[in-house]
Amino acid sequence: MPVIVLVGAQWGDEGKGKATDLLGDRLDYVVKFNGGNNAGHTVVIEGEKYALHLLPSGILSPGVVPVIGNGVVIDLNVLFQEIDGLESRGIDTSRLRISANAHVIPSYNRSLDKVSERYLGARRIGTTGRGIGPTYADKMNRVGVRIQDLFDESILRQKVEAALSFKNQILAKIYNRQAVKPDDVVNELLSYVERLRPYVGDTALELSEALDAGKVVLCEAGQATLLDVDHGTYPFVTSSNATAGGACTGSGIPPTRIDRVVAVLKAFTSRVGEGPFPTELHDKFGDHLREVGQEYGTTTGRPRRIGWLDLVMARYAQRINGVTDFVLTKLDNYDDLDEIPVCVAYEVNGVRHDEMPISQSDFHHAVPIYETMPGWKQSIMGARSFDDLPKEAQDFVVFVEERIRARISVVGVGPARDQVIERHSVLSGA
Ligand code: GDP
Ligand code: IMO
Ligand code: MG
Repeated sequence: MPVIVLVGAQWGDEGKGKATDLLGDRLDYVVKFNGGNNAGHTVVIEGEKYALHLLPSGILSPGVVPVIGNGVVIDLNVLFQEIDGLESRGIDTSRLRISANAHVIPSYNRSLDKVSERYLGARRIGTTGRGIGPTYADKMNRVGVRIQDLFDESILRQKVEAALSFKNQILAKIYNRQAVKPDDVVNELLSYVERLRPYVGDTALELSEALDAGKVVLCEAGQATLLDVDHGTYPFVTSSNATAGGACTGSGIPPTRIDRVVAVLKAFTSRVGEGPFPTELHDKFGDHLREVGQEYGTTTGRPRRIGWLDLVMARYAQRINGVTDFVLTKLDNYDDLDEIPVCVAYEVNGVRHDEMPISQSDFHHAVPIYETMPGWKQSIMGARSFDDLPKEAQDFVVFVEERIRARISVVGVGPARDQVIERHSVLSGA
């Protein structure tokens, strides 16, 4: 039965949480396969706002089993804070499953993330400071701590000591910080063990059995295509694979079982942190979209950088992820505009680029080529079918769809769960 992968098409915050929530009652499992609490997904249900970081957005749907896959990095303090926060609001979190192979973010990696950013100064990445980069680096360097290690105290101690034997040198000699005591780290991690135990299992096996039994599984990406460590705007990226391929490695679901790939595309572009951004706006239009769209980070509260929609990037996202369906979000944020420029190509040193330039230096110098669409100057937040949209808004959707190599199956017209127009089923391809 179907596996659907849901990814972000831009630099994050496209509305992935809302898209997952929209599909919630049609899904049996929602798997988070990459990232950690650098993510921030806002979901609005019956006027109630939920901000999720580590838990998959599917946790808000009563019929869904939420899964934290092996590709995720887990800050255990944040995990239990988030579980407690949801429980206190009446959300049942007891179905949660956590992969024994997921990595833990130890406190020293949060410190290293913050001090290394400070050390980089003008060359900083603008990370969320949650210890994501150092923890994935440890994983690749084979000195990471996994969830399963917490259940064997002597193994846990060995691993923490091994990691700290060189990390303490870095903390003390490069960054002038105090060395961390292995005992303190071990004791903190052990304090979570009993609460953690019931959630932990072989999630790859559980998902395989669920698929054999005909269940519907959605793999939900954190971050997005241009933040992917391989396919994004490196080095201004996160440290995991946020593209569709990451769904396989980060969950243990094989590629042959994936049926559909849904990309969430915001009707304009935003970015948090440093790095190139060809369509970025530094004018009243950027300020207007930031305010009507409430574009402030769900995780760090930072104002998001804002730019016009970039179709070169959307086409790239379609190609890298093999997108079958797009969810176009926040179309309503254009309600007040007279006209809407859309980037259709770039010019770099006098040469037109219809695809992403191969070199990052060229991307830094890319000048957008715009086509301008007329605005509709009325609220579309009440529209529930494509025919309810004013002609100009319909034309905008069709204009975008014709240039991104996949159909736009869902259009978002507001933050609430029901503020959507479903044109096609993203689950069946019908
Ligand atoms: P994510 O990280 O991709 O899940 O996205 P975020 O939750 O960080 O940011 C998206 C924001 O847009 C959230 O505040 C959503 O409630 C909101 N949102 C999602 N879809 C729509 C839409 O179609 N219209 C409007 N106005 N807001 C939306
Ligand atoms: P969601 O899932 C937007 C950005 C950070 C920084 C870079 C690296 O809500 O779309 P990291 O802490 O991951 O090492 O930071 O990636 N970033 C995000 N930007 N949305 C996110 O998640 C992000 N997660 C990380 O701002 O530029
Ligand atoms: Mg977000």
